[in-house]
Amino acid sequence: MNPTVQIFKDLPTLSQAAAQLFIVSAEQAIAERGRFLVALSGGSTPTALHRLLVDAPVDWPRVHVFWGDERCVPVDDPGNNYAQARDALLAHVPIPADNIHRIPAELEPDSAARAYAAALSGFHAPWPRFDLVLLGMGDDGHTASLFPGSPVDEDQPVIAVTAHYQGRPVQRVSLTPLVINAARQVVFLVSGQSKSATLVRVLKGNSNPKKLPAQRIHPSDGNLTWLLDEAAGSNLELLETSS
Ligand code: 6PG
Repeated sequence: MNPTVQIFKDLPTLSQAAAQLFIVSAEQAIAERGRFLVALSGGSTPTALHRLLVDAPVDWPRVHVFWGDERCVPVDDPGNNYAQARDALLAHVPIPADNIHRIPAELEPDSAARAYAAALSGFHAPWPRFDLVLLGMGDDGHTASLFPGSPVDEDQPVIAVTAHYQGRPVQRVSLTPLVINAARQVVFLVSGQSKSATLVRVLKGNSNPKKLPAQRIHPSDGNLTWLLDEAAGSNLELLETSS
């Protein structure tokens, strides 16, 4: 199924749309299955969304939060994805502590990856089918912590990664497409001119998943949506408007 691409004026407007999508997805999952399983992304793009969700009508006691990836830095490090979401959102909503499934980034990367894979399996073997996976994309085409040159044939749900990107933490842990593509819905939030050329390659270029890991994301039985701001989508004709 082709992805849905929506382009918004700017990041605040994109974030409003993402918040509305989050609210609707949560409502539907809770109505149908009694809980909402969501994997958050790291980076700077989702911060505005996280802040908007503080006052959103979400049944937080029925929400379980996971992460698509994590940097192997302590939870008091500003580069820690869990800490970013905790400070902007989770500390301000009535989500039970047991519903927050952070990646144990204080462990060595390989141990953290094994521990997170075990936690996913313990929650729902072999891994949960997420109702919503939120992702970002780097200007190099990476997503989560799947970077250009990363092996593309992982048979594990979680991997440890060493990657150099914009001076951010190098040691990481990441979900692999095995888990991400099992989700009911995957949504990319992409903002900024620096990503516009890569977006054209990812969405309209030839298939090259080793160089453009974002191309590895195509849910096997779920929806894929790209929410862009005009700066990121500036080189891209609208592929398809969602209804
Ligand atoms: C991470 C993210 C990563 C991020 C992109 C985009 O841990 O760094 O999961 O995949 O989404 O690097 O980051 P920005 O939103 O800061 O551009």
